[in-house]
Amino acid sequence: MWKKLFAWLDDRLGLNDLYKATLDRPEPKGNWWNTLGSASLVLFLLQGATGIFLTVYYTPSPDHAYDSIQYIMNEVAFGWLIRGIHHWGSTLMVLVVFIHMLRVFITASYKYPRELTWLIGCALLILTLGMGFTGYLLPWNQRAFWATTVATEIAGAVPFIGGFITEVLRGGTELSALTLSRFFSAHIWMLPLLLAGCIGVHVYLIIKHGESAFPDKED
Ligand code: HEM
Repeated sequence: MWKKLFAWLDDRLGLNDLYKATLDRPEPKGNWWNTLGSASLVLFLLQGATGIFLTVYYTPSPDHAYDSIQYIMNEVAFGWLIRGIHHWGSTLMVLVVFIHMLRVFITASYKYPRELTWLIGCALLILTLGMGFTGYLLPWNQRAFWATTVATEIAGAVPFIGGFITEVLRGGTELSALTLSRFFSAHIWMLPLLLAGCIGVHVYLIIKHGESAFPDKED
């Protein structure tokens, strides 16, 4: 029955062709360092899934943000687990993306024809850090408030446009309800959409060029 269903879908969607075009291709000899890009992708999806669950109870307003997190931690069934995975997942994602970039650098995989893959990777690193930065404020506790106050102050040190950047980030001169709502919007809409788009192009380029192989003695 499953075979029939698959054949029916394959006829209409071209699943086999899709598989051949994307996944059925030669790969360099198995190496754990080459799994870090896929690990980054899995972590991105995990962060997306747990983040969606968190928005069910989280409220992005100064009056309710802190309490809504307490509610998630203490009252919602498995809320502590979902938040824990999201919290530690963010740290792990930054770490894994960074080690993935180091591997690409050490094996010089940024050279022709993969320069664009590298440049889009740089954007992915900045966007991943941006997710961490905007997410840090959302619990609206003392640590989040003061860390973001300091970080947005540091952005103010950029010559000429520093003051402007700080004001855009804060939505005014001080941290306020406006800061929280624009960080929330960036955290759940703008940055994830940009990340998803860049990951799409990144993966397309990897499929197009194949993965670089580690040279061995004969090479
Ligand atoms: C969200 C972050 C990222 C995701 C999801 C991601 C995903 C991937 C995947 C699935 C691969 C193929 C498997 C592998 O080689 O590990 C890959 C390869 C690659 N990535 Fe990333 N990546 C990310 C960040 C970065 C960063 C920060 C850089 C560098 C600045 C980068 C540059 C590259 C390059 C040049 C390749 C090709 C490597 C080769 O052919 O050997 N990526 N990436």
